[in-house]
Amino acid sequence: MILTERLILRPARMEDLDDLHRVMSDPRAMRYWSHAAHAGTERTLRYLTGMVASVPEAEEYMVELRAAPGRVIGKAGCWRRDEVGYIFHPDVWGNGYAFEAMATILPRAFARFPDLAAITADCDPRNAASLRLLERLGFVRTGSAENTFEVEGVWTGSVFLSLPRARSAGSTA
Ligand SMILES: CC(C)(COP(=O)(O)OP(=O)(O)OC[C@H]1O[C@@H](n2cnc3c(N)ncnc32)[C@H](O)[C@@H]1OP(=O)(O)O)[C@@H](O)C(=O)NCCC(=O)NCCS
Repeated sequence: MILTERLILRPARMEDLDDLHRVMSDPRAMRYWSHAAHAGTERTLRYLTGMVASVPEAEEYMVELRAAPGRVIGKAGCWRRDEVGYIFHPDVWGNGYAFEAMATILPRAFARFPDLAAITADCDPRNAASLRLLERLGFVRTGSAENTFEVEGVWTGSVFLSLPRARSAGSTA
């Protein structure tokens, strides 16, 4: 478990199903995600099962508020070694929580995997909040592509970003 100023970051567990479903069934939160909002808990169960299985090798965490522990407000980190993934419930957006979580997790990922040269992001070009967050974290744009994801019959593109080890906060590289 990791404590930041306002957050508790801890590994995913199966008991998080209802809270995670509350986030991943919300069309606002899922608007720019790589798949559609979860219609039923079975879809979230599949997603959560994958998260729990990858706990030993991923710097990925469930997020709770220190002021209101016991309820997951989102998840943050790297869903695989070198790629970020984060999502928070819209009720808590705009408070700096995503930045606070990711600014803590990214240096840990670099420290944990010494061979990791950079951490990447794949972001929908329309996702202003995520692009701004990544920019604040030190990510730089490396390219873009059209038609990278099809969600419910609609194709969207990607902006690719990278955080080289040397640009990570606290890096001594
Ligand atoms: C992206 C997301 C995690 C940001 O969470 P958050 O806790 O609201 O972000 P923060 O409060 O830490 O804000 C980070 C920066 O983004 C900016 N920002 C937040 N929402 C914004 C918006 N709608 N438009 C533009 N900038 C925005 C903040 O102002 C802040 O920048 P600043 O410090 O220069 O002011 C949240 O919007 C979310 O869960 N979205 C749905 C899931 C998603 O799209 N994930 C990313 C897939 S690539």
